[in-house]
Amino acid sequence: MPAVPADAAELHRLAAEATARAHAPHSGFRVGAVLEAEGGARYEGANVEFGSYGLTICAERVALVKAVTEGERRFLRLAVAESGGGPVAPCGACRQALADFGLDLVVIYPGPDGLVERPLAELLADAFLLPG
Ligand code: THU
Repeated sequence: MPAVPADAAELHRLAAEATARAHAPHSGFRVGAVLEAEGGARYEGANVEFGSYGLTICAERVALVKAVTEGERRFLRLAVAESGGGPVAPCGACRQALADFGLDLVVIYPGPDGLVERPLAELLADAFLLPG
């Protein structure tokens, strides 16, 4: 994707577009995520569900593994959306996975009263991180 700076609302709009690529035959809940790397590249993800339900992968972690396997290690912002336009914040597992790559990540998501912008450090207080 192009490395053009976008405001929070624009990044969230791209996450909303990514919900179209969700595979959610079991829950019907389609989530999209856009992860912006330090250099400006953006990586999109959407949730992927399996017949063995517990194997489901959230949109945020799909975006993260796509970015990491392209060599990215530092991220600026993550935007999340659900296809119905309702509130959705990253689940605890995704917060933990993202924490390995920096707690200063700015997370953008729709809350009950509009778009929220909060650092991961606030969303995952006293995060577990391996020493070293
Ligand atoms: N889901 C995400 O993709 N991200 C979240 O942060 C919360 C939940 C997905 C997982 C599952 O496919 C569906 O939403 C319902 O839980």
